[in-house]
Amino acid sequence: MNKRPLGKLGFAFVLFGGTGDLAKRKILPALFAAHRDGMLEPACRIVAVAQPMLARTDYLDLIGEPVKANVQGPVDVVAWDSFVERVSYIGGDLSDADVFARLAEDLRPLTGSNVFYLATGPSLFVPVCRALAASGLSEGAKLVLEKPLGHDLESSRAINDEVGRIFREDQIFRIDHYLGKEAVQNLLALRFGNSMFEPLWRREWIESIQITVAEELGVEGRGNFYDQTGALRDMIQNHLLQLLSIIAMEPPHSMEADAVRDEKLRVLRALVPLDDETVARNVVRGQYQSGTIHGAPVPEYQAEAGVGQGSDTETFVALKVEISNWRWSGVPFFLRTGKRLGGKTAEIIVNFRGVPHSALGTLPSRPGANRLTIKLQPEESIRLSTLAKMPGLGMELRGVNLDMVSDGLPHLTAMEAYQRLLLDVMAGRLALFVRRDEQEAAWQWVAPILSDWSKRHNPPKQYRSGTWGPPASSALLARHNTCWHEEA
Ligand code: BG6
Repeated sequence: MNKRPLGKLGFAFVLFGGTGDLAKRKILPALFAAHRDGMLEPACRIVAVAQPMLARTDYLDLIGEPVKANVQGPVDVVAWDSFVERVSYIGGDLSDADVFARLAEDLRPLTGSNVFYLATGPSLFVPVCRALAASGLSEGAKLVLEKPLGHDLESSRAINDEVGRIFREDQIFRIDHYLGKEAVQNLLALRFGNSMFEPLWRREWIESIQITVAEELGVEGRGNFYDQTGALRDMIQNHLLQLLSIIAMEPPHSMEADAVRDEKLRVLRALVPLDDETVARNVVRGQYQSGTIHGAPVPEYQAEAGVGQGSDTETFVALKVEISNWRWSGVPFFLRTGKRLGGKTAEIIVNFRGVPHSALGTLPSRPGANRLTIKLQPEESIRLSTLAKMPGLGMELRGVNLDMVSDGLPHLTAMEAYQRLLLDVMAGRLALFVRRDEQEAAWQWVAPILSDWSKRHNPPKQYRSGTWGPPASSALLARHNTCWHEEA
């Protein structure tokens, strides 16, 4: 099938799952953008592998439009034509040794460190790794594993054990694309490039922290996958707990991969474990009903293609978590994510405590008058909110905002998360990838929630599409005398 010679030198980026949604929406657009921006090494060949037996030209026809539609920034013909020169295709069943024999044959002339990207379901991770080893392709290579890695702690351990027999930990890149977002880099710069926040970054001065990742989209043709996964496994176990660990970690001694990952791990291991009682009290699960998004009607979750009848999979989770260490003891972290919500946003809100005594009369009572808002999307920003005096007689205070990122910096387009992360993989930089022990600590923390949900009949609470989740989510915060950011 593969009609393109790979060339004598260089390395291959081999994309298993090359016809899948992730390949078309994220991975290939990111590779194209890196190529267009002159950041992809000329010696990098891209080999897509997937089940359909397609000629290379048919593969390019299949991916062309969806990939172009998802590229950040312009797609000009010249850049596109030179990009596809890099691309070849191998079709066939991944359980068929012949696929790997053809792959090995294609890669034989290459001398660099190949990247194997498994954009497939986790059930294929182990068989593909074994087949790579059997074909002599694993040595010196880099392996990228997409989430979800397993379904729970046991299955993720089983996969990690098997993959670990073939690839060393420093060859494995467990991707969590939230770590590649520009705002996460900015959060690191804010915390560790400035001295003024560090003394405040603790229980004495911070009242609560919120992390919200809200989507307007529904399950988008992934009903089958999503129905077996749910929001806790799809988002909380990985993206939100990773963000939490970056906000809460101690300053690492360097940005070297293990220095950062050791600190994140300490946070994950210090999360206060939940039990049946605290799960019932502090975790809210919801599922979307029909409603409207931007004025257009959208169906309920249960009517989505691929979703089982009467499914009780959650499309929304809100929860409270605490960290048992000196810095954070007693500070509630509220995490929330869901589909078909009232807006698309990903943000971290740091609410500072109010003044101990107001000499200025009654202050505005909303929570977080002193607040840091780190927005990851749709736009990226860091905003510091304080109170200031209204002009004129008297002492009326109002909130004012200071934008801390855009002012004074050139308006460069932020690099898309996958682009940064794929370039990191090729360069062997592991800092923004999840180490095995971090991932397992996160699974360990969510385990009591999964177990409680499976043994207790706890149907998700319904919420209308286009709202911010079930009322129980607001009630959770109200019990702690606070409210979600958009309700403030
Ligand atoms: C993925 C989840 O990891 O992240 C999806 O599987 C979700 O369900 C997506 O839609 C959200 O990513 P982003 O970058 O669009 O916020």
